Amino acid sequence: MTSTLVTSCTALPLGGAGPAWGGPGLRTLTPTPVASRFALPHGGSWRPRGGPSERYMLKIEKLHAYYGKSHVLHGVHLEVQPGEIVALLGRNGSGRSTTAKAIMGLVKCEGVIQWNGRQIAGCKAYEVAHLGIGYVPESRDIFPTLTVRQNLMLGQKGNGQGSRWSFDDMYRMFPRLKERQNTEAGVLSGGEQQMLTLCRTLMGDPDLIIIDEPTEGLAPKIVELVGQYLQALKARGISVLLIEQKLTIAMAISDRALVMGHGSIVFDGTPDSLRADAYTRKEWLEV
Ligand SMILES: Nc1ncnc2c1ncn2[C@@H]1O[C@H](COP(=O)(O)OP(=O)(O)O)[C@@H](O)[C@H]1O
Ligand SMILES: [Mg+2]
Repeated sequence: MTSTLVTSCTALPLGGAGPAWGGPGLRTLTPTPVASRFALPHGGSWRPRGGPSERYMLKIEKLHAYYGKSHVLHGVHLEVQPGEIVALLGRNGSGRSTTAKAIMGLVKCEGVIQWNGRQIAGCKAYEVAHLGIGYVPESRDIFPTLTVRQNLMLGQKGNGQGSRWSFDDMYRMFPRLKERQNTEAGVLSGGEQQMLTLCRTLMGDPDLIIIDEPTEGLAPKIVELVGQYLQALKARGISVLLIEQKLTIAMAISDRALVMGHGSIVFDGTPDSLRADAYTRKEWLEV
């Protein structure tokens, strides 16, 4: 193998760079109702990758990752374009969380991880976050003894000036967090903690959010809410890499679906083409 182990961050600070955003305030961002979400014409919008007009925000090639001697990712390729919701699907143990951790500099890896054209493999997690990638890990690690508001403050970059998101935006999105803003985060329900981790990540003003199994263990109504808010983020210009095992929400809101199996991408296409691909679903997804 010719790839070299990445040991240092070569990305330059982006400063204020990022997609210009002049969208409406959240108050006007009514999440799409479920019925019309299922009717979205996702099928026609995806073009084969690699064409001359493609513009990738995140581009991963030949990514290998390791836990000690255990070789877990075997040459992962994936891309996220600006404004896309991309679902990363697969069974437990297929390597989805490891892919997220590799992007965030939390696991030893080799290969290409480009962010807006710059290699970021080898960057530390705080450097990656500073470049505009937000990460909501599957562990939902809130700070249980801090209040909801203090948890949100910890997500801010600096004093939060220039961010697209304010405390009020968060409280408008999730009124429950406003009601509980002075409550210790540790007493929130699982669903509320999920909202809080999502909001804390948003407070850092990311251009891409990687969110790992956000619907795990949540009641169906809350699952639907999570789906609606991920769409509201997209409407506000933020890209989403949505890691899921269940297909329901992922297939309803994603522009593109990737399937992982044994540490590689085994399918890359539209949700419609995945729906039509009984072999891939049976071989790589159904439990
Ligand atoms: N911290 C770790 N140490 C050793 N092996 C790990 C660790 N985390 C995950 N693995 C292994 O890596 C593989 C991929 O896991 P993971 O990326 O968590 O999959 P997924 O998120 O798709 O469920 C699995 O075989 C898992 O057992
Ligand atoms: Mg996982």
